[in-house]
Amino acid sequence: MNDNSDANTQTFTLMDNASGDQYVLPVLESSVGPRVIDVRKLYADTGCFTYDPGYTSTGSCESRITYIDGEEGVLLYRGYPIQDLAEHSDFAEVCYLLLYGDLPTSDQKAVFEHDVTYHTMLHEQVNMFFRGFRRDSHPMAIMCGVVGALSAFYHDSLDISDPRHRMIASFRMIAKIPTIAAQAYKYSIGQPFIPPQNNLSYSENFLHMMFATPAEDYAVSPILAKAMDRILILHADHEQNASTSTVRLAGSSGANPFACIAAGIASLWGPAHGGANEAVLNMLEKIGDVSKIDEYVKKAKDKDDPFRLMGFGHRVYKNFDPRAHVMRQTCHEVLDELGITDEPLLDLAIELERIALEDEYFVEKKLYPNVDFYSGIIFKAMGIPTSMFTVLFAVARTVGWIAQWNEMVEDPSQRIGRPRQLYLGEPERDYVMMSERK
Ligand code: CMC
Repeated sequence: MNDNSDANTQTFTLMDNASGDQYVLPVLESSVGPRVIDVRKLYADTGCFTYDPGYTSTGSCESRITYIDGEEGVLLYRGYPIQDLAEHSDFAEVCYLLLYGDLPTSDQKAVFEHDVTYHTMLHEQVNMFFRGFRRDSHPMAIMCGVVGALSAFYHDSLDISDPRHRMIASFRMIAKIPTIAAQAYKYSIGQPFIPPQNNLSYSENFLHMMFATPAEDYAVSPILAKAMDRILILHADHEQNASTSTVRLAGSSGANPFACIAAGIASLWGPAHGGANEAVLNMLEKIGDVSKIDEYVKKAKDKDDPFRLMGFGHRVYKNFDPRAHVMRQTCHEVLDELGITDEPLLDLAIELERIALEDEYFVEKKLYPNVDFYSGIIFKAMGIPTSMFTVLFAVARTVGWIAQWNEMVEDPSQRIGRPRQLYLGEPERDYVMMSERK
């Protein structure tokens, strides 16, 4: 393949060595980041597909929401660095930014928060839905089921061709997801559901629904609410990751947004994606002691052992995950504020990180701690059970999914997602009657 760039139009020339034919492919310019070879007409022109399992070299859409430079460890939401947003912004403002493309004025923010909080309650029949689950169900299973069920309750916001319906469905999803998450938790411990309080901020309300009981006063700690807000900001979007691509693919057929977000939650659940925060804590507990770290690092490097260091590595970041930096700092702040001076899991995590970052295998493969490495320790300190960790990721990522879904629906070039395949099965053959089969 030759790069035939010139100043105005850039192209790639593809040479078919079998026939000697050459094909010129257009090259598209990103506003920041690598150039993109436009292969949309490749099959029509050449009769060939591209093959890219895991989509390591394939862009699936145009987007203006989130940008990652994996080599430099950069993450931008609508152009704003994640570190700046984590320091100066709050989650409601970040939701507005992701949905509308710009930071809100104070009036815009007040209206937005009012409009979203209006939808925090669940339909009473949805509340009853929870009772169909076993008490020991994993809360992510409940999330998939209840979020999917929302499409059966909010018929008045299912016409995806109507911008007003899309907006109401978007607000509903963002407003109701913390209520559903907190109720999944309350259900698992047999406590009554605590209704949302719309005078609280997004994070305060979530913590209130998680930890208040009807029997006692509960005051949300401002420090924990701030930390929760920061964690939500860090997880809010991450361009075309597995769950976001799932939401887009489900939505590309015209499916309703509640069903699409339920699909995203299912994808997020896996340990290679959002399930990693739960897996990190389980791993740290299993390692148990600093003296065992070498043994586990050895296991992680062994090709014949399926064990991986959870919370390490990323498809895109080949440098530090910028979210992990903020997360580590937040972890120290939360433990300090809570007066937790001795957290053996944190000591273990710090030592594991140090050893792995000096190990040739991890250095050579550019495996750094990712956002999930420290988040579990913070959640644990806040009193959140391990099974809820990925649920919190889903609460945060809902706004990203919704923003990406809206962008897709509004994109005139959007078509149903339909990847092709490299077929390696049997060619056509004759049907064999049962009596003749061996
Ligand atoms: N421990 C040990 N080896 C690893 C790890 C790890 N955590 N991650 C990758 N490798 C090795 C892998 O075995 C492979 O080696 P080789 O080239 O010799 O076959 C090489 O590094 C490249 O890995 P890959 O699996 O081809 O990379 P990927 O881009 O397909 O996977 C990943 C990325 C995040 C799934 C993977 O790094 C992983 O499984 N990490 C642990 C799970 C985790 O922490 N996930 C959270 C990701 S961040 C939050 C989110 O966005 O969801």
